[in-house]
Amino acid sequence: MNRVVVKTQDGDVKINKHIYGHFAEHLGRCIYGGIWVGHDSDIPNTRGIRNDVIAAFKHIKIPNLRWPGGCFADEYHWKDGIGPANERPKMVNTHWGGVVEDNSFGTHEFLDLCELIGCEPYICGNVGSGTVQEFSQWVEYCNFDGTSPMTDLRKKNGRTDPWNVRYWGVGNENWGCGGNMTAEYYADNYRRYATYARNYADTKLYKIACGYELDWNRVLMEKAVRFMDGLSVHYYTISGDWNYKGSAVEFTEKEWMSTIIKASAIDEWLRKHIAIMDEFDPSGRVGLIIDEWGMWHEVEPGTNPGFLYQQNTIRDALVAGIQLNAFNNLAQRVHMANIAQTVNVLQSIILTEGAKMILTPTYHVFDMYKVHHDAVKLPLYVESEKFGETPLISASASINDENKIHISLTNADPAKPRQVTVEMRGLSGASYSSVKGQIITSDKMQDHNTFSQPDKIAIKEFLGAAVSHNNLTMELPPHSVVTLELS
Ligand code: AHR
Repeated sequence: MNRVVVKTQDGDVKINKHIYGHFAEHLGRCIYGGIWVGHDSDIPNTRGIRNDVIAAFKHIKIPNLRWPGGCFADEYHWKDGIGPANERPKMVNTHWGGVVEDNSFGTHEFLDLCELIGCEPYICGNVGSGTVQEFSQWVEYCNFDGTSPMTDLRKKNGRTDPWNVRYWGVGNENWGCGGNMTAEYYADNYRRYATYARNYADTKLYKIACGYELDWNRVLMEKAVRFMDGLSVHYYTISGDWNYKGSAVEFTEKEWMSTIIKASAIDEWLRKHIAIMDEFDPSGRVGLIIDEWGMWHEVEPGTNPGFLYQQNTIRDALVAGIQLNAFNNLAQRVHMANIAQTVNVLQSIILTEGAKMILTPTYHVFDMYKVHHDAVKLPLYVESEKFGETPLISASASINDENKIHISLTNADPAKPRQVTVEMRGLSGASYSSVKGQIITSDKMQDHNTFSQPDKIAIKEFLGAAVSHNNLTMELPPHSVVTLELS
């Protein structure tokens, strides 16, 4: 039997909606084809951006979008991506398939996309091969409203008002593809770059330092904590290993379980990072930002290995549910997260083929979990049946300003349904008598949506939960993600 106890009186932390952020890199068919089709395309678009993708992003209320990378960010020179498109220089995308990057999607196009979606931009600057001046001028170009060379240039390129971009990443994976730096060298550079990234008018920047493993983060926190607002880490889940990551759609129960074990380990991993942050920032001011996370499989057979195109099954949905539950539960320190990557790359929420678009099971998890955006986290503990040391059940809960409680649960058992009770503690007179539910599941754990069967997996009504005296009982089907609403 599995038991979840929700402490309804102890909610004091908001689940920052930015935990539900996304990431789009100049990689494979993410930007080009997936988001940007250009002004002359037959695919319906708004100023070159696909209308179907805009609508899908808006529906799940994407709160922020990280761009332009990834490894690409530390080779990207933003001035190449402004001005008349036909005059922009072409470059080689050395990280991702060696293809030609024609810079037709640049700062204006990205910020237009964010305005169309209604989300906040999160720009990752170039530290690996860029300069402090280049980074500083990018901020000025985006945010300054006075008289300056960068403002004049922006106006000349057709944009009068500044965009007021708040979120800035100071490099990406600078311990690896972003320059192979040491922690000490990066920490000193972080301080230089952060110094010249200025606040203009009311836009106070939220500066995100590039973190890594525990030792690196300790050095960075020690040397630079007072200059940062966020510390980023990346967590990819791989069912195999880096030599053979495993197929996205053809896997055994054993591979399913190895995936669940690795996905669930994120909770303890995050707690270790948080412990270091607590030492140097006891007030909890600096956010832990998981600005790349998700499943990384082998590419789909026959596709360009440099494009990282993969399918997305119920297993990916489970990983999303488990990890979003972990982020919700650690919301006092986790202020933002960005799944990698929006369209056609890694654990995507959307796949496209020409004019066709499908939504993946992971998309539906983001749709179902949007009830937690900016709601107050309700602490809980879970007593779960286990596979080895790994719990089969995960959960998180929140209460919104209409006093509705939402509880999200996952059952990672690949084959069996599991009985779960949820006890609502400390309601002091308040009473919840109605429960509604939604579920994402399918007959087989390998099931996924395809262009010929786009709606095989979608959100369905869940009728398997009952409420009595503020306690819930339910049977969670195998490999399922559920969200309940109590009112
Ligand atoms: O998301 C793909 C790549 O994974 C990113 O470019 C890089 O930051 C990470 O290693």
